[in-house]
Amino acid sequence: MDLRDVYKGLPEISTQQKDLVEKLKKSAEEEEISMEEVIRLLVEPEYDATYLHQAADEVRRAHYGREVYTRGLIEFSNFCRNNCLYCGIRRDNRKVERYRLSCEEIVSCADEGYGLGFRTIVLQGGEDGSYSDEDFCRIISGIREHHPDCAVTLSLGERSYESYKKLFQEGADRYLLRHETADKAHYEYLHPAEMSFEHRRESLYQLKEIGYQVGAGMMLGSPGQTPEYLAKDLAFLKELSPDMIGMGPFVPHKDTPFGKEQQGGLTLTLKMLSVIRLLFPYVLLPATTALGTIHPLGREYGLMSGANVVMPNLSPTEVRKLYSLYNNKICTGEESAQCVGCLDLRVKETGYELVSRRGDVRR
Ligand code: 5AD
Ligand code: FES
Repeated sequence: MDLRDVYKGLPEISTQQKDLVEKLKKSAEEEEISMEEVIRLLVEPEYDATYLHQAADEVRRAHYGREVYTRGLIEFSNFCRNNCLYCGIRRDNRKVERYRLSCEEIVSCADEGYGLGFRTIVLQGGEDGSYSDEDFCRIISGIREHHPDCAVTLSLGERSYESYKKLFQEGADRYLLRHETADKAHYEYLHPAEMSFEHRRESLYQLKEIGYQVGAGMMLGSPGQTPEYLAKDLAFLKELSPDMIGMGPFVPHKDTPFGKEQQGGLTLTLKMLSVIRLLFPYVLLPATTALGTIHPLGREYGLMSGANVVMPNLSPTEVRKLYSLYNNKICTGEESAQCVGCLDLRVKETGYELVSRRGDVRR
């Protein structure tokens, strides 16, 4: 598999851009680089960015070798109290057939995942108020008791400090909460007035303080996004210094206000993955399902550009199609075991190796 295929017919990288890549490579330790400068690697006009990807790959190999970590994702509910303009399971989308798994179903899904070799279970759902803190505690302690060597990652959206703390004390290890965009006006363009830019950022700092390994991140090519906003995203990530960064292309969902917007680009996403790897050598960086959705080899290319995590779906097959954040989502028909087999082969094709350890951050 060759990343050059992505850039067929495009001009070579310029000497200036090559210098920028070199500077970026040194930035993690010594050299100062401005985020505005970095963004020059990401924006048009298009060029062959293989050089950038190779630099990122070197750094990734130095930190994590050929290992790709795998997380079993359980999408436990598609009820959501929020109304993000880009998201297919937003409250106002009346066309969604809603489902929620019981606590017992969630734990048994995790058991199945453990049997398939997963040592990190990710619980992700819409912001569904019908699960109490006690419910989540039961789920977390259930997984913990059955599988003490398994990490539990939460992706439950915004909650109170007390709730974050309770769930951490119950044994959750990590929390994913994408910041979505680091520009306030852009945040307000992507979200309804009742959602707060400040609360989201505050949550990320609280989660960190409590002791979670924290994941932030954003979509690429979301409606209204500009290069300036991407520079702000990088500056915010630098400041927060998260352990994980979740980043995939925006993909429209037809039953949302952004249904007719353009999807995020493959090359923008790949270039950003490489930039992130160079800026944050230690970071856990997934090749996302959204990336696999916009190109059949998207996840493979993502891994070759600096990503080192994949998150196959463990949700029961009956509900997978219903957890539809965007259109044409891949892997919604497969059994969990099939997903694992398929990903294992795909990862091998890229020259990396799927490993079944917890895969904690190495900082
Ligand atoms: N396209 C791509 N990603 C999306 N997400 C939500 N809707 C979309 C979409 N239409 C992402 C958000 C959220 C994560 C769970 O999924 O960034 O944080
Ligand atoms: Fe559920 Fe955005 S629509 S959190």
